[in-house]
Amino acid sequence: PDSSIDLFEAVERLKQELNAVILAHYYQEPDIQDVADYIGDSLGLSQKAATTDADVIVFAGVHFMAETAKILNPEKQVLLPDLDAGCSLADTCPPDAFAAFKAAHPNHLVVSYINCSAAIKAMSDIICTSSNAVKLIQQIPAEQPIIFAPDRNLGRYVMAQTGRDMVLWQGSCIVHETFSEKKLVQLQMEYPTAEVIAHPECEEPVLQRAHFIGSTTALLNYAKQSQTQQFIVVTESGIIHQMQKQLPHKFFIPAPPMNQCACNECPHMRLNTLEKLHQAMIHRRPEIVLPEDVRQAALRPIQRMLEMS
Ligand code: 13P
Ligand code: SF4
Repeated sequence: PDSSIDLFEAVERLKQELNAVILAHYYQEPDIQDVADYIGDSLGLSQKAATTDADVIVFAGVHFMAETAKILNPEKQVLLPDLDAGCSLADTCPPDAFAAFKAAHPNHLVVSYINCSAAIKAMSDIICTSSNAVKLIQQIPAEQPIIFAPDRNLGRYVMAQTGRDMVLWQGSCIVHETFSEKKLVQLQMEYPTAEVIAHPECEEPVLQRAHFIGSTTALLNYAKQSQTQQFIVVTESGIIHQMQKQLPHKFFIPAPPMNQCACNECPHMRLNTLEKLHQAMIHRRPEIVLPEDVRQAALRPIQRMLEMS
């Protein structure tokens, strides 16, 4: 505990020295959440990145999130504590295969979930996140055909919510696919008054059991305003730290994964640690760099999202 107190102080000092801001996602380890200036979902984090006046953005999240911050801030330094913190969902959509998929569906508008690489963003018309996907799709004229990539579970959920047909890229997230409907039902029998709150990256049978579906921020806000005292949380378990911290009198139960080898912590998110974050601030690397032509092409659909949100 003493060494982590020293680290907290060291990170605070470096923040002043560098004029840095620490942006963290809810799936980061508790220590990182506790040192962050802002914790949010993908939309909140990109809105924060778009408006910060810091010189250095320390991004405690996965690569596509830090990359989005860099796309919005070419003149700022964007640090990622571990450059290997990728995303299994983003990895399901390689640029070459996606270019062929696009070519096979001419005249389609491409709406991509923010969980994708800059190269995929550069091939997209509009970016969305789990918190604005329904709202953005509703703004697209009904006769316009749409490709939705890369998450098929979010895509199917948006189709059900909007009544729109869309061509779906068949990607998914290893963490959200791991939840077991059977074990969820067993847990509901154990906690009959608990509300099930789930992220839309979960598969349909699990989502059908949910009382509320939303982005990480939306799940936290729902838990705040609900009269219920117990919640079964069907998403990466990191958010429970924030729920428990902000709602100490409520009770949060992580949903069980399918088998014992699976785990509801995102292995990519959890590559970042407070120690690595501290080192990144000292050495000012690993840093996100990307070619200017890709950055500019990826910026357009992100700006469109920010305007439409
Ligand atoms: P949110 O935008 O809801 O925070 O989701 C990010 C993510 O990676 C979900 O797996
Ligand atoms: Fe990607 Fe899934 Fe991890 Fe989110 S939880 S960052 S979608 S692998």
